[in-house]
Amino acid sequence: MAAYLCMVAIFIIGSFSWVFPEAAASASHGAVTRHYNLNIRLQKVTRLCHTKSMLTVNGKFPGPRIVAREGDRVVVKVVNHSPNNVSIHWHGIRQLRSGWYDGPAYITQCPIQSGRSYVYNFTITGQRGTLLWHAHISWLRATIYGPIVILPKLNASYPFPKPHKEVPILFGEWWNADTEAVINQSLQTGAGPNVSDAYTINGLPGPLYNCSANETFKLNVKPGKTYLLRLINAALNDELFFRIANHTLTVVEADAVYVKPFQTDVLLIAPGQTTNVLLKTHPNATSASFLMAARPYFTGMGTFDNTTVAGVLQYGKPSMTSLNVSIGLPLPALPPINGTAFVANFSGQFRSLANSQFPANVPQTVDKRFFFTVGLGSSPCPKNQTCQGPNGTKFAASLNNISFALPKTALLQSYFFGKSNGIYTTDFPSTPLNPFNYTGTPPNNTMVANGTKVVVLPFNTTVELVVQDTSILGAESHPLHLHGYNFFVVGQGPGNFDPSKDPAKFNLVDPVERNTVGVPSGGWVAIRFRADNPGVWFMHCHFEVHMSWGLRMAWIVLDGTLPNQKLPPPPSDLPDC
Ligand code: C2O
Repeated sequence: MAAYLCMVAIFIIGSFSWVFPEAAASASHGAVTRHYNLNIRLQKVTRLCHTKSMLTVNGKFPGPRIVAREGDRVVVKVVNHSPNNVSIHWHGIRQLRSGWYDGPAYITQCPIQSGRSYVYNFTITGQRGTLLWHAHISWLRATIYGPIVILPKLNASYPFPKPHKEVPILFGEWWNADTEAVINQSLQTGAGPNVSDAYTINGLPGPLYNCSANETFKLNVKPGKTYLLRLINAALNDELFFRIANHTLTVVEADAVYVKPFQTDVLLIAPGQTTNVLLKTHPNATSASFLMAARPYFTGMGTFDNTTVAGVLQYGKPSMTSLNVSIGLPLPALPPINGTAFVANFSGQFRSLANSQFPANVPQTVDKRFFFTVGLGSSPCPKNQTCQGPNGTKFAASLNNISFALPKTALLQSYFFGKSNGIYTTDFPSTPLNPFNYTGTPPNNTMVANGTKVVVLPFNTTVELVVQDTSILGAESHPLHLHGYNFFVVGQGPGNFDPSKDPAKFNLVDPVERNTVGVPSGGWVAIRFRADNPGVWFMHCHFEVHMSWGLRMAWIVLDGTLPNQKLPPPPSDLPDC
């Protein structure tokens, strides 16, 4: 009898850990808390026959999955055993009144210093789908990232056929060199950083690189089944096209919000974006293999990593020869590198599911309007130095021509304790100070201004923000990410935004709701959100290089009058700078 009970216990724990790897759960009154430990360490990792010391989490690369259900509380103890300062961001998690746990270094917290720890503690409210977690300081997210899987509430189902299996697919970017050295050198010389050596799928570059045939992601499938692929772009600097040869995908969710399902052969996914797709396997294929591949979309003027990552979709038992076979398989055709027409058409297909169970609560009226330009520019070369950026300057990037300087202490603490003096100012411009023809001939002076400037919003303000790409130093798509919120993408278009014509075309019924949107290359995008989450919220380009150059700013959302509209005080273990 005892042995039988013991076997049942093992079975329950075993099956639980299959769905929730590395998690410990405790339940009280129906609410479930999931506990995770993330240990950050320096470790040797080899790819493309290059071994380097890099930061890993729990000895894994990519890092472990965080799995929870909608409504769960997630408690993650992050222990920094590495020599670097680290912080972790739960990208796309709304963090309702839990801004102390959002994670961007010097915005909501000082970094976790070497040998220290911090316990992140947040509840997942009104979200289900796929997100990601990643380091949020310098370029450490190059190796510190992993999936967040949010399952529907217990006994709730998907608004699409139940998949046979669910598979996270993370795109990443690999440098043979140390990525901190890469960005530090770029910031020193003013030149663009060295481009990556490979893209990866779940950490593996695939057979199209030198010395990488054994480092190929394989997805083993059965015929006639539906698989839910949880696609995550964790690459640093590249939007990626993705396709699986001979298979059509059905998009069902973006940034942890259900969308009206649509079919596509090719996907575009920007850094910071997540997309859930259904893959239906062919009913009669018992042993066959197909390549899946991803490579960049790029319209800028600089250099980029123009390589292709491939993986294998394998029907039936993996055979001994499948490794070599994968090299001979046909690559799926992808749009041209600068395929802006494809991108415009593809992003136009996303619509919120917007049904009674999952409504799209689009703000129908606007309290405050903003117009921000986004793009590259220059900053002066220091005296007695030669710089390798544009015309002997340094590359910079800005919103409304302000290149955001990170403060020495965290903005949220300065704000909460009323000590903003010398840390930040509240004069971030709501429109460009010197308007020009944004997508036409650039102005003579392309120098950016520097500052730590924020916008202050009263609680519950409805905001409309138009973000306009500039062609200064080349038109380029910018994946704009907002912390603490989802926003609705109510409009987008090519060229300069026309305030007299374009708003009439806005979709206020079922626009896609997400946390990261690609500002079209040489075009504009309009978003709306309701400022109902008090705190300090970072907004930035999710290209890490543009963020390093200053393409970032912050919104301060004030407390409301009711007790449940206020940000609680910080936890006692909040790191100091
Ligand atoms: Cu995924 Cu502020 O970033």
